[in-house]
Amino acid sequence: MKKLTPTLLWCLWSSNCHTGPNVVLQPIKGKGARNNEVRKTQKTERSLCPAVLSHFDQQYSEELGDLWTSARAVFLDPQSWQYGVMLNRFSVVTDIMQILQSQGFSALLPQTQVSQFMCNGASTVSNSNNKEGKDNLLSCHHTSKGSPEDSDFQPYITSHALTQGSQSKPCLTLPHTSLQCYIHSSPLRFPSQAHRPGQLKQYYLLNAASLLPVLALQIRDGDKVLDLCSAPGGKAIAIMQSATPELLCCNEPDPHRRDWLSKTLASFLPSSLNNRVVVSAQDGQAFGQSEAGFYDKVLVDAPCSNDRSWLYSSNSQQVAQRLKDRVRLPVLQAQLLRSALSAVRPGGVVVYSTCTLSSFENYAVVETVLKDFPEAEPEDLWEEIAISLKKYFEFSSYPGHSQLRPDPSLLPESSAASAYHHRLGILVVPQPGKTWGPMFLSRIRRKE
Ligand SMILES: C[S@@+](CC[C@H](N)C(=O)[O-])C[C@H]1O[C@@H](n2cnc3c(N)ncnc32)[C@H](O)[C@@H]1O
Repeated sequence: MKKLTPTLLWCLWSSNCHTGPNVVLQPIKGKGARNNEVRKTQKTERSLCPAVLSHFDQQYSEELGDLWTSARAVFLDPQSWQYGVMLNRFSVVTDIMQILQSQGFSALLPQTQVSQFMCNGASTVSNSNNKEGKDNLLSCHHTSKGSPEDSDFQPYITSHALTQGSQSKPCLTLPHTSLQCYIHSSPLRFPSQAHRPGQLKQYYLLNAASLLPVLALQIRDGDKVLDLCSAPGGKAIAIMQSATPELLCCNEPDPHRRDWLSKTLASFLPSSLNNRVVVSAQDGQAFGQSEAGFYDKVLVDAPCSNDRSWLYSSNSQQVAQRLKDRVRLPVLQAQLLRSALSAVRPGGVVVYSTCTLSSFENYAVVETVLKDFPEAEPEDLWEEIAISLKKYFEFSSYPGHSQLRPDPSLLPESSAASAYHHRLGILVVPQPGKTWGPMFLSRIRRKE
């Protein structure tokens, strides 16, 4: 059988890939071009929305000071935006790692050591100790033919894991994970994969900061997980790369977006996981009442202002609507967070995240909800995530905004105010060379 070399795979992909709206990676053709080299081409200009920019200038210069000046430069230059490539461990083995490395991509996260599970001489990965000590999905199943979707679960076979462990950068406190994301220091965009019936996609393109809320959840095999605001499903896919939950409930009330979510799940997960991954259609604000205390982990990746996309709003009507929504969103976000805190069991955790820089949708929402929930305790992500990953992301903690100074009654007597601020959440602010974000995340544990 012919070996799939990086060059050959690149050609196969190129004929099956479609690309995003702005930047296209293409193999360089012609004299002097090396195989698998890529370059950027400009496809279409997006038009910036001055009304949104002026709104951001006013709010964010007060909240972020100089950090806003450099974040603004990134927002205004979509060509500088970076994209991460999250690998799908359920896809059949490929030489994708080789291709990514030949393009200069490197692993973002410290990888799980190869586990004790061995199948026919190939190693598989497991993120954590299984609660029951054994798990169907982590046992080795074999079918002699068929695609990953119609075979039993095929764990990602990690010929690469053996080589990657030594290459990934050590992080101070971040646990090793089977979640794999490749990033490039330049704004190169790997082509996205078109749907191919009967084949799972090999990777998902995303803003690498989107993985941080999933890392903060610390998913373990056997967890019951709720993804309260799930479409289009990027974080649900990341959750399934991190471990093998007993249940992942992906909730999305919007029918069109739910459809999109279902397609994402079908494109990345084998059908053998169908009994563990369910889609639900509730208003997330009421979820906590219907399934109180049921989940170990809940992700609230809340509807938010989405700064990057709002800055490029398509018309003035849309802008007016969005600026109105911006005022209303914190109420919805707080209600979703309350609902999540009701849905999680005592001792379980909720991660609240958004992709806006706005303090009103971030720290202020967390602080408001904590006032109603004495049994909820915010956890410090500064050491675990911000310090560990500061090489790749620019983090900021509490802003200086006068309206957002913490309620003194919430400040623990013994700890410094800065520790309290870190516990409310951390914010990834896009910066030149580290263009990931915006992404806010906060982890709240429900006391036992
Ligand atoms: C930021 S997006 C989620 C992105 C998703 N977690 C991902 O990683 O692909 C927020 C989602 O919340 C949904 N949403 C809006 N209102 C909601 C509600 N009341 N309850 C639950 N979800 C809601 C939106 O339709 C949208 O799909």
